[in-house]
Amino acid sequence: MIEKINSLKARIEALSADTPEQVEQLRVQYLSKKGEVSLLFNDFRTVPAEQKREVGQKLNELKNLATERISALREALEAKAEADNEAAIDLTRTATPLPAGTRHPLTLVRGEMLDIFARMGFTIADGPEVEDDWHVFSALNFAADHPARDMQDTFFIARNPADVLLRTHTSSVQTRVMEHTQPPIRIVCPGRVYRNEAISARAHCFFHQIEGLYIDRNVSFADLRQVLLYFARQMFGPETKIRLRPSYFPFTEPSAEMDISCNLCGGKGCGFCKHTGWVEILGCGMVDPAVLEACGIDSKQYSGYAFGMGIERITNLKYRVKDLRMFSENDVRFLDEFVAAK
Ligand code: PHE
Repeated sequence: MIEKINSLKARIEALSADTPEQVEQLRVQYLSKKGEVSLLFNDFRTVPAEQKREVGQKLNELKNLATERISALREALEAKAEADNEAAIDLTRTATPLPAGTRHPLTLVRGEMLDIFARMGFTIADGPEVEDDWHVFSALNFAADHPARDMQDTFFIARNPADVLLRTHTSSVQTRVMEHTQPPIRIVCPGRVYRNEAISARAHCFFHQIEGLYIDRNVSFADLRQVLLYFARQMFGPETKIRLRPSYFPFTEPSAEMDISCNLCGGKGCGFCKHTGWVEILGCGMVDPAVLEACGIDSKQYSGYAFGMGIERITNLKYRVKDLRMFSENDVRFLDEFVAAK
């Protein structure tokens, strides 16, 4: 018996394995119920009583040895697998590039427009999108029942007592600035505006504007024209021509709409400009003295001009976006087109 134990002990000490499966085989071979070590325990019954103490001790030692040996083999294999795995990480490999976002075309064009006006000394003024009747309409000379209010279909939030509404133009910011500031005033007001229109390729219930206001002593229509000409040439190229057509806005007198020479055909006439050679880009005029007075500015001392345009319109002209809805659909394929734009 002692001999059997010793020879088994020698074999167990020499055990080796290359794979986890081999380790498992060894466990079954030695330690399972019918394994070699367990079988020796069965033989223990036949050992004479005076040897039982010594043999029992040796048997237990053998079992512990086998258990330790086999788990040592398993651990060694696991450690090796882990080391191999680490060696497989190639730190010199190029990282998968994270896709960088692009700036929205309207953001790009707004930035470009504001830069041009900043070069002429205009600062940016901001105001709320949820407005009251006074700042959007009444202060700007829209009489309570004036048909001019029909020009702008308005989303009303509350009707009475004070009308609360979504601003239909950023002229409301100009009202706010005029109320709190004495001239000289030279501001541009970028922002989102809302009109109750059915959504189509050519109209949307919200869009973005940049409106400008300049008030000082002796401001004339010639100043307005020169500022707009500079803007048009900076935005659309030095060959660009402008023309002003008489128009009507309640808050300016005289009022005009401005066209630029079609930047697609250079003014020769094409499908885009409906063969006229001109495309409309903005409304403008001299601030009506009644508006200055309503905002607390002395119209005998001061005069001013104002203009307003849609950022979507300018973006369409620059990038030929055919459908207005694309600006708010967040289709990545569309937005990615502007990845190279500055
Ligand atoms: N507020 C006008 C609009 O929303 C544009 C405009 C601004 C016209 C300033 C004249 C002067 O259409």
